[in-house]
Amino acid sequence: MHVDRYEKIWIYVSSIVTAVMVGLLGFYAVANNIHPPSNVETIDSASLHLSEDFAEDNLGVVENSDGSVTVTMVAARYGFYPRRVEVPANTPVKFRLASFDVLHGVHAPGTNMATMVVPGYVSEVNTRFPAPGEYPLLCNEYCGLGHDQMWSRLVVTVRE
Ligand code: CUA
Repeated sequence: MHVDRYEKIWIYVSSIVTAVMVGLLGFYAVANNIHPPSNVETIDSASLHLSEDFAEDNLGVVENSDGSVTVTMVAARYGFYPRRVEVPANTPVKFRLASFDVLHGVHAPGTNMATMVVPGYVSEVNTRFPAPGEYPLLCNEYCGLGHDQMWSRLVVTVRE
C-alpha cells in the first residue's frame, strides 16, 4: 500500500501529540494523587436516616483509635451535612458520603478532596490536608435550582 510522504509525517506528528497528551494526563493524575474512588458499597438513599452510619446523630467527625479521622456526611439538596466539619492537618482523613436524593459532587478547591456522590452508593475519599485553613466544600454536579448555593465548610486545624 502506498502512503504519501506528507501523510506519513502527519500520522507520526498526530501520534506523538496524542502520546504527549495522554502522558501529561497520567503525570498530572499521579503528581496530584488523583485516583478514582474504588469503594463499591451500596446504600438505600431513601432510608439513610434509618441506616447505622448515616443516621443524623452519627454524622460528623470521629477520631479513630489509630489517630486517623473518619468524616461521615450526607449530601442533600442543597448542602453537605453537617454544614461544618473540622479535621486536623497532616492526618489521614476518610470521607464517607451518601446522597439523600440526586447526583451530587463534592470538591474542596485547592485540595484533592473530590468525588461524585451517586445515589445508592457510599462515596469514599481517603486523603490528608497539609495546609490548615478554611475550605469550602462545593457541589460540582448540577443537582437543581439551588446547585449554586450548595456548599458547606471544611476547617483544617493545626494538629497539637
Ligand atoms: Cu448538589 Cu449541585
